Amino acid sequence: MKKIPLAIPHMSGKEMAYIENAFAENWIAPVGPNVDIFEEKVRDYTGVGFATATSSGTAAIHLALRMLGVTQGDTVFCPSFTFAASANPIHYQGAEAVFIDSELDTWNMSPIALERALLDAKQQSNLPKAIIVVHIYGQPAKMKEILALALAYQIPVIEDAAESLGSTYHGIQTGVLGDIGIYSFNGNKIITTSGGGMLVSSNQTWTKEAKFLSEQAKETAPYYHHEKIGYNYRLSNVSAGIGCGQMEVLQDRIDQKRLIFERYVEGFAKYAETFSNFPRITYQKESEGTFSNRWLSTIQVSGVHPLQLKEALDASGIEGRLLWKPLHLQPVFQKNRFFAETVCSKISNAQRLFESGFCLPSATQMTPSEQHYVIQTLAKFLIQVGESR
Ligand SMILES: Cc1ncc(COP(=O)(O)O)c(C=O)c1O
Repeated sequence: MKKIPLAIPHMSGKEMAYIENAFAENWIAPVGPNVDIFEEKVRDYTGVGFATATSSGTAAIHLALRMLGVTQGDTVFCPSFTFAASANPIHYQGAEAVFIDSELDTWNMSPIALERALLDAKQQSNLPKAIIVVHIYGQPAKMKEILALALAYQIPVIEDAAESLGSTYHGIQTGVLGDIGIYSFNGNKIITTSGGGMLVSSNQTWTKEAKFLSEQAKETAPYYHHEKIGYNYRLSNVSAGIGCGQMEVLQDRIDQKRLIFERYVEGFAKYAETFSNFPRITYQKESEGTFSNRWLSTIQVSGVHPLQLKEALDASGIEGRLLWKPLHLQPVFQKNRFFAETVCSKISNAQRLFESGFCLPSATQMTPSEQHYVIQTLAKFLIQVGESR
C-alpha cells in the first residue's frame, strides 16, 4: 500500500518555465534573474521592504545574528520548543542560547518566561544580544507582548518564520514584525525551493550586508580582496526558479493546509460524539487576531503517549511524528540555561507539549479518502484505548 507521508514537496508545474529559462540562459549559478524575481515575489507577498535569498533558513538565521553583531560571549534568547536549527547558529557565533519555555495555547515563546529571563539577565548585567521568536507549526507567537518586552529592554528581535510563511498576526505577515525575519524553503515546508531560505527586513543595510556575506564577502576590487569572514550561503538561480513557481501557488497551499486541519477536527469530533470513551483531542490554538497557515496539523491526545500514536500509524503505512523535543532537554544543549513559565511545576510546558502532542500527515497532495483513512486508523486505535480503560 502507498505510504501516506507527513509533508512532501508539492510542485505545481509553474516552476518549469523558470527552470527552463535558467537552463536556456545558462544561469546555473548562485546569482541570476530567478533569484531577483523570487526575492521580489516574497517582498510583494509579505509587504517587507528588503529580502536576500539564502541557501537555507539556517543560513538566514546565521546571517541575521551576524547583522546584530552576535559574537563570542554573548547570549541569545530562543524558544526551547523548536527545531535545533533555530538555536544552532547562535553557537556558530560562539554565543550561548538561553532557552525560554512555551505557553500552552499557541505553543510559542511564553511572554511570562521571557520576562523572567530578561529580569534575571538585567540583574546579572548580561542582557541578551537578540531574541529569536519562532512561529511554531505556522501559529504566530504572542508578538504584541514579546515586542513590548523587547522594546522595554532594547533587544532586537529575529523572527524565525521558517514554518509560517503566509501566517498573519493582526493582518501582518509573520517574518516582518521583528527587526529581521527568516523563511525556510526546505522540502517539507509550505512551499519549497528544494532547499533554501530568505532573510527579510525593513533595514536595507542589513539585507545588503547579508547578501555580501552570503557571497563570500568579496570586496569590490580588481582581484579577490576580503576584509570580513564570508559564507557560501547564496541561493542558486535554479532553486530560485522553483521558488518563483511555488510563490504562484502559495495561497492554494495555505487553503489546502487549512482544509486538511479542518477535516481532522471534524473527523475526530464525529468519533468523540459516538464513542463516550473516546480520548479528548485538543489542537494548537489560533489565538485572537492570528491566522495560521497550519503548516502541520497537530493534536494533543489526553492519556495517550505520542509514541503509541506513532506505532499505531506506522503499522498502517502512515507517517506521523512527535512534536519537537525541547532543546533544553537535548544532550547537545545540556549546559544551556532554561527559563520555565511556571517555576513550581515539575515539568515545563515545552516538555508537556513534547510528551502529549503529535504531528499528523499534512501533505497538500493527500486526497480526502487518504485523510479519511488516517482519521479512521487513528480513531480505531483510540477507541481501543478508551475501551481498555
Ligand atoms: C523552526 C525552524 N527554524 C529553522 C529551520 C531551518 O530551515 P532550513 O531547513 O531551511 O535550514 C527550520 C526547518 O528546517 C525550522 O522548522
